[in-house]
Amino acid sequence: VTDIKENIRLKLRFLLVAASVTLTVIFSFTGCSGNKSADNSKSGETATPKSTDIAEKTVDTVDQKLIEYGKDLIANTSKYYGPKGSLGVKANTLNCQNCHLDAGSRTWGNNYKAVATTYPKFRDRSGSIETIPKRVNDCFERSLNGKALDSSSHEMLAIVAYIQSLGKDVPKGTKPEGSGIRELTFPARAASPAMGQTVYTAQCKSCHGQNGEGIKTPDGIYVYPPLWGEASYNTGAGLFRLSRLAGYVKDNMPFNVSTHDKPVLTDEQSWDVAAYINSKPRPKKDLSKDWPDISKKPVDHPFGPYADGFSEKQHKYGPFAPIVAARKKQAS
Ligand code: HEC
Ligand code: HEC
Repeated sequence: VTDIKENIRLKLRFLLVAASVTLTVIFSFTGCSGNKSADNSKSGETATPKSTDIAEKTVDTVDQKLIEYGKDLIANTSKYYGPKGSLGVKANTLNCQNCHLDAGSRTWGNNYKAVATTYPKFRDRSGSIETIPKRVNDCFERSLNGKALDSSSHEMLAIVAYIQSLGKDVPKGTKPEGSGIRELTFPARAASPAMGQTVYTAQCKSCHGQNGEGIKTPDGIYVYPPLWGEASYNTGAGLFRLSRLAGYVKDNMPFNVSTHDKPVLTDEQSWDVAAYINSKPRPKKDLSKDWPDISKKPVDHPFGPYADGFSEKQHKYGPFAPIVAARKKQAS
């Protein structure tokens, strides 16, 4: 019986959408044809959306619940999938939101606004075309050092619906300003874990702890997430690349103080503190299937083999300029 109900519901939704499309077509033929002046197109604009608005609102309320659930999964991932997760243990104690601020909506806070319009896309790391669920699972397996969700599960559909809603006003194929993580220019010298420790003690330790262990409530929920050790992201995570971590920290840390326009750290301090954090131990991920074409590895990918002669150490900490120059020379 529920199957039949579901079926009828789907059909009704389809009819609604079809009706709205028909109405839109009729409106655009009757209302706007031949009217090129600004005033007329304005009145055309108010006439056209009315018909679609009604249909969209109905569809919206159906989807809104799913979108809200997706947002909650991003903000409180640990509650659902962490070590005491209500839906089973799938991940460490991190929330997606720890690295994708304001549930992935904050400008320059590693937000998701480019995802809806740029996926599916080919990614060199996996050497395959990645859908949104695949990309979400990459972060589950690496940043949350956990397991992939079933890509047809209600939770994955909710996460995808939410991420898509964030990008719904972004033109196809474009990447809005402030999405993802900013690119810092490479420093002239190698980043220094020793100098980074000084930055860490002055600017980060108060929240993230002397040993990067973070601070949690008695029931194990992190107030300040860990930056290294067993509870942190693994060696396959995006943040294990120095440029990702330095770029994220520069715009966003210390939390709610530093911003893209008024960062607290200099570029060099960001690179150094990133070097300090990524010099510390963390869970290891089997990366043998990553980067099937090794010549596509990013300059700051910290694991060989490489198509160039530079060491893992130089690929991890720099100086990066000689690697970039050698690649340019080879390409020309
Ligand atoms: C420890 C930090 C961290 C956590 C936690 C994390 N991510 Fe990520 N995520 C990253 C980084 C770093 C990137 C790459 C950003 C870049 O290179 O611009 C990324 C990229 C992504 C992207 C692709 C964005 C794009 O524009 O291509 C998606 C989607 C994503 N993460 C989803 C999630 C989801 C869902 C979760 C929770 C299950 C999650 N992430 C948890 C660090 C994290
Ligand atoms: C005032 C407290 C505070 C200070 C100081 C602070 N952070 Fe954070 N940091 C946070 C909070 C809170 C989050 C998680 C944000 C969220 O979930 O919305 C976070 C998240 C992070 C993350 C991503 C999540 C993870 O666990 O990997 C990194 C990396 C990070 N901070 C690095 C730093 C660095 C480096 C500094 C010093 C330059 C620093 N933070 C200073 C509070 C702080």
